[in-house]
Amino acid sequence: MTGTFEYPPGATPLDGDERASLIPDHITTQGELNEWEQLNIAHGEAWANRQRQEILTEAFVRQLHRRMFGDTWKWAGEFRRSDKNVGVDWLKIAVELRNLLDDTRFQIERASYPPDEIAIRFHHRLVAIHPFPNGNGRHARLMADLLVQRLGRPRFTWGSDNLVDASDTRQQYITALRTADRHDMASLIAFARS
Ligand SMILES: Nc1ncnc2c1ncn2[C@@H]1O[C@H](COP(=O)(O)OP(=O)(O)OP(=O)(O)O)[C@@H](O)[C@H]1O
Ligand SMILES: [Mg+2]
Repeated sequence: MTGTFEYPPGATPLDGDERASLIPDHITTQGELNEWEQLNIAHGEAWANRQRQEILTEAFVRQLHRRMFGDTWKWAGEFRRSDKNVGVDWLKIAVELRNLLDDTRFQIERASYPPDEIAIRFHHRLVAIHPFPNGNGRHARLMADLLVQRLGRPRFTWGSDNLVDASDTRQQYITALRTADRHDMASLIAFARS
């Protein structure tokens, strides 16, 4: 397909192969793609809200991505096979994810942090791993929402704005992620509850 794609700050550009992996062939503009993706994600969320199985497994992490993006992208639910400007070396995705899931289960068992902080630490590390070619932000926000609800808290509000488009709210989110890179979780927690 042809067409010009524009990315808000912090969004991962797709490479040519990834563009070729778009499932619906009638989509020609970013706006149409956003609308299509949004519907797919809504179905994925509805599916996720019905699930009662363990969520801190690689199988669930991948299945959620597939449910959110599987009508849109051929590689939905599959880990990256190339490096990006954000994210770990693609060869390390599976092991890094395994460590994150194990650490998070341990933190829950030990009540190492309050529930919001456990879920936000999980979100921060999951987007830092960046397991998938695209959709990592939206997927990792929904994973954190599901996790925090399992821990007895309401889902997060994430700035109460559309984070996909370039906006002050998105900039605040990216800044809070970078602050979390320096092991300071407070601003990302505050942002997620704003
Ligand atoms: N500089 C950065 N440092 C840390 N994390 C970042 C940075 N830039 C982007 N991210 C994370 O990566 C996500 C973007 O990755 P990707 O494009 O795979 O996800 P997405 O769901 O398509 O994005 P979006 O946030 O636009 O919905 C952001 O939402 C954010 O979570
Ligand atoms: Mg993206």
